[in-house]
Amino acid sequence: MKVTVVGAGAVGASCAEYIAMKNFASDVVLVDIKEGFAEGKAMDLMQTASLNGFDTRITGTTGDYSKTAGSKVAVITSGVPRKPGMTREELIGTNAGIVKDVTENLLKHSPDVTIIIVSNPMDTMAYLVHKAFDLPKERVIGMGGALDSARFKYRLAEALECPISDVDGMVIGAHSDTGMVPLLSKATRNGVPVSAFLDQEKQDYVEQETRVGGATLTGLLGTSAWYAPGAAVSVMVQSILCDQKKMIPCSLLLDGEYGQKDICMGVPAIIGKNGVERIVEVEMTEDEKRKYNEAAEAVRKVNGALNL
Ligand code: LAC
Repeated sequence: MKVTVVGAGAVGASCAEYIAMKNFASDVVLVDIKEGFAEGKAMDLMQTASLNGFDTRITGTTGDYSKTAGSKVAVITSGVPRKPGMTREELIGTNAGIVKDVTENLLKHSPDVTIIIVSNPMDTMAYLVHKAFDLPKERVIGMGGALDSARFKYRLAEALECPISDVDGMVIGAHSDTGMVPLLSKATRNGVPVSAFLDQEKQDYVEQETRVGGATLTGLLGTSAWYAPGAAVSVMVQSILCDQKKMIPCSLLLDGEYGQKDICMGVPAIIGKNGVERIVEVEMTEDEKRKYNEAAEAVRKVNGALNL
């Protein structure tokens, strides 16, 4: 099955690489607007195929969306990334127009495609695609929670001084420095609540470092991160293409779930061949609920800046 990745920058190329390395898709089509860039990335990646042992065909195109026809999943990474000191929300003006154009082009050639949104501000971009194209709810999925949960597990393992495979946890809420809600009350080490190992101060540290995970990397790298975003997308794409029905936190259009309506926010969901198969409601503490609702208010404000 075919996967399209729009934007052959660092995040898009990492997505393509991880998808190919896992060898579950027949084709990955990279699209970029910069002349020859997607073709170059695709060729470089294809020259790793014999070395890394994958058969996925990776091709590139400079804006010819007819090459993406018949895609089962499309990933939109296009737009400008943030620079150090910028918030994801500051990117809205530039990225909204780009995401809209890209979606229109994708739908022309793959009307049944499931779309994964990576471009920032991600919750607002997912909302924009829902509002502008009125697609079935289960076919537009924002990526943030999968990435933020991976960063949460990284910080948990660090604080617990244990292997990451011992750790489980999810981040819901918004994909923003202040809006993420790491569910510490649900996080475990081999099924044991992390509160058995970490005092409040350490839990607060994990929460704070998780929330600013992207900003920390932007400060170090001078632009936003790509390996973990690419890997997070590859897990979502695989769950769809292989109908794995993995439970993955992601940004979805809510209709009453978690007390919210007419907004895209991070919630745990079962992801399978039909895209979103079910939203899973989990119980939150009062503190987590308050943080979730505050995050929703902030996302609504950003959504208000869209010209819908
Ligand atoms: C990040 C970008 C992808 O969090 O939003 O690294």
